[in-house]
Amino acid sequence: MATVHAGMTMSLDGFVADRHGGTARLSDPAAAGGSGYMTELIRETGAVVLGRRTFAMAEDPDWFVDNYEFQVPIFVVTHRPPDVRPAQDENLTFTFVTDGIASAVAQAKAAAGDRAVKVIGASVVRQALRARLAGELHVDIAPVLLGAGLPLFGDPDLEGIVLRRIAVLEVGTFTSLRFALAE
Ligand SMILES: NC(=O)c1ccc[n+]([C@@H]2O[C@H](COP(=O)([O-])OP(=O)(O)OC[C@H]3O[C@@H](n4cnc5c(N)ncnc54)[C@H](OP(=O)(O)O)[C@@H]3O)[C@@H](O)[C@H]2O)c1
Repeated sequence: MATVHAGMTMSLDGFVADRHGGTARLSDPAAAGGSGYMTELIRETGAVVLGRRTFAMAEDPDWFVDNYEFQVPIFVVTHRPPDVRPAQDENLTFTFVTDGIASAVAQAKAAAGDRAVKVIGASVVRQALRARLAGELHVDIAPVLLGAGLPLFGDPDLEGIVLRRIAVLEVGTFTSLRFALAE
């Protein structure tokens, strides 16, 4: 059964987007498409769960097919599916899930086979952690201080989650941290 990896790239001071909602300072070519790091992530990922706002980062929802790094089934957690389904093909399909994160993760696990489900989006990552749906937390630390922006954590309900470090990788200027969540 697929494992579930909740993860984002975060500034050293804890933000996944800057005060204007931008993520440009949180990128490093060493972790981008074509890099060994991304090639390995793509290999291990069998399905993706996105929050609606992360899905909406692409101005054109048809962009995902052929352009998104993960050409796999995508499950978007939302209260309001779009009227028009984005373009999809035999690899990348869209499912808009309106009955919550647990349902999205269960559907993604079924689609991922023996590969991992990746959960992306600050809100949905926190929900996956709170509900103990994620087996691993992956945080890539960018060596920048954004000062303000969208925090990844800062949720009192995350207190009590027990993490065990399983990997520390240097990826270009980033430090990639992987933790297992205790049962
Ligand atoms: N640094 C990185 O690695 C990285 C990666 C991706 C994104 N980002 C940034 O992260 C931000 C997005 O994160 P976010 O926390 O704002 O949003 P998000 O987690 O991507 O999406 C949140 C939205 O998803 C829907 N949703 C979430 N949980 C739901 C539930 N249980 N049931 C139904 N719908 C639910 C709601 O939208 P509706 O009510 O509208 O349906 C909610 O407003 C963006 O600024 C993006 O640029 C950063």
